[in-house]
Amino acid sequence: GIIDQNQTSPKRLSMTDIHATIEQAVALIRSRTTLQPQIGLVLGSGLGGLADTLDNRVVIPYADIPGWPRSTVHGHHGNLVIGHLEGQVVACQQGRAHFYEGYSQQEVTYPIRVMHALGIQTVILTNAAGGLNTSYRVGDLMLLKDHINFVGMVGNNPLMGPNDDRVGPRFLGMVQTYDRDLRLKARAVAAEAGITLHEGVYVCLSGPNFETPAEIRMLRTIGGDAVGMSTAHEVLVARHAGMRVMAISGITNEGIDDPDTTLETNHEEVLEAGKVLVPRLTTVLRGMLRAL
Ligand code: HPA
Repeated sequence: GIIDQNQTSPKRLSMTDIHATIEQAVALIRSRTTLQPQIGLVLGSGLGGLADTLDNRVVIPYADIPGWPRSTVHGHHGNLVIGHLEGQVVACQQGRAHFYEGYSQQEVTYPIRVMHALGIQTVILTNAAGGLNTSYRVGDLMLLKDHINFVGMVGNNPLMGPNDDRVGPRFLGMVQTYDRDLRLKARAVAAEAGITLHEGVYVCLSGPNFETPAEIRMLRTIGGDAVGMSTAHEVLVARHAGMRVMAISGITNEGIDDPDTTLETNHEEVLEAGKVLVPRLTTVLRGMLRAL
């Protein structure tokens, strides 16, 4: 496999290696189900439960899929679940691997490449995020309108290395990254269900530490509305391959901007908020699938 669990520094893989492994992954998945998924769902921290509700589902543990990185984080299940949801055939990533776990950018985005190789054209990603916008409350949902990818900006970008022109362009344009039509649909679905759906800018940091109060104030100043540790790199790879992308953050905590407070952000709080978020997120995602 391409994943070395004991690696100390993330390595960059050649596209030849990645393609060979993707073919093995697709073969394994096709050996488990004849369903042809059209839509990919990535379910983040504490948000994986929806995958358990698919009809005629096939559960493929990540450990069975060549090259697939495994999440070591509590709250991430670690299965690819393929089945029917709201009349669509979907492939759900029940949990994801993160850059802060020591995986390379190529490794954390590999599942998106596999989804593309499976024939999936539309990806909906979810994540848990901290609120930067002071009008956001715990339990709110935010549709991503754009992102600021700090991790990529400092040279950790999954598109670095030789470009495979068969997949996408060397220099990827980043306007219309979050598909306008999908956003309109999501807003209509949320409005219909009476669910508040903010629309904002997601800031991607590497983690694993939460932000300092000074960082929270900076991220706010530069135009961020929510902050998290995933999604942006997956979106890059999906867009590079020409997939349509939508993403939703569940606000699990409010960013703490005061260094003298006794408040503290922690992972338990993130998972706890997931319980409030899941029913809302489920409603929006199911509505989206019906609308597609
Ligand atoms: N910061 C970064 N990532 C997060 C947060 C946060 O406050 N909450 C959930 N994921």
